[in-house]
Amino acid sequence: MNLKKENIKWEELGFNPIETRSMFMAKCSVDEKWKGGSLVPYGNIELSPAAGVLNYGQGVFEGTKAYHTIKDNIVLFRIQRNAKRMEWSTQRMCIPKIDSDFFIDAVIQTVKDNIGYVPPYGKGSMYIRPIVWGTAPALGVRAVSEYTFVVFVSPVGSYFKGGIKPLCLKVETNFHRAAPRGIGNAKAIGNYSASLYPLTMAKKKGFDEVIYLDAVNGERVEELGSANLFIYKDGVLKTPKLSGSILDGVTRDSVCKIARDILGVKVLETDVYLDEMLEADEVFCTGTAVTIAPVGKIKYQNRVCEFSSGSIGPIAKKCKEALTSIRRQEIKDPFGWLHIINKNKKI
Ligand code: COI
Repeated sequence: MNLKKENIKWEELGFNPIETRSMFMAKCSVDEKWKGGSLVPYGNIELSPAAGVLNYGQGVFEGTKAYHTIKDNIVLFRIQRNAKRMEWSTQRMCIPKIDSDFFIDAVIQTVKDNIGYVPPYGKGSMYIRPIVWGTAPALGVRAVSEYTFVVFVSPVGSYFKGGIKPLCLKVETNFHRAAPRGIGNAKAIGNYSASLYPLTMAKKKGFDEVIYLDAVNGERVEELGSANLFIYKDGVLKTPKLSGSILDGVTRDSVCKIARDILGVKVLETDVYLDEMLEADEVFCTGTAVTIAPVGKIKYQNRVCEFSSGSIGPIAKKCKEALTSIRRQEIKDPFGWLHIINKNKKI
């Protein structure tokens, strides 16, 4: 959708791309390091039909956000963590490694050039999507010789339709998201295409998303297609440990730290069994796009479990309040998570 920023209704933002002024673009061949790049008008990209990304899925992305704060600053949240994950994801997919400094500089340039698209304080955020893919042609399966890196942005509101309404989820027993020693812990585009079929089937039956189980024996919960998962029971907050098939989510890590250090809650990154989840007092999910979303109902085979009496549970609420207040500079940022973007100075 190409909207002039004057015509954007900030209160009505969902999670759909809105074209902005510009995007960052850089190219790199396999035997070079990433350097240079520039801002170009937001627009379509020409690709060979034999491009590595189209034929063999050689691409990875990131998701991060810029916020307008109560102090009228524009801030990035834990951008170094996204940068580190991009380093790992590119290496895992045989894409020339995007170093943190190059990544962060590209993100800042893009946000600054599109600064008017950061929603006003309290009205959504600017979603930032860095993405890199293999552009050179390949017919045989191999890592290609040329890559393109783009950073584009879009103002966004709630990821799920219905805003903060607790989610209705299905435990997926027919499909897995990722296997041990696969690419589940890289932000590879293929992880998301693999989740489309189970997601589409679940949505047809009225569910918002699905919960995946481990691919070894299907006893442990892993994550949703679009977010990490937490359960709370008897004073302990648990989230599936980073076993290799789980994405090391930035919001996941932030919730662990907020719960431990601000709320004084015991947090375990551990195996989380399906039975434990179904018996939990509270279940919620976390992600950059999703933020912190309460789970109201989970269906597993013929069993339906309800949580938190249809509203956000107390632990999710406290974590969400703390996280939102830090991002909006309403309270001190005790962890040094914010990077303030200087709106006026050129970087
Ligand atoms: C994010 O939370 O930023 C993600 O990349 C997940 C994606 C499914 C929207």
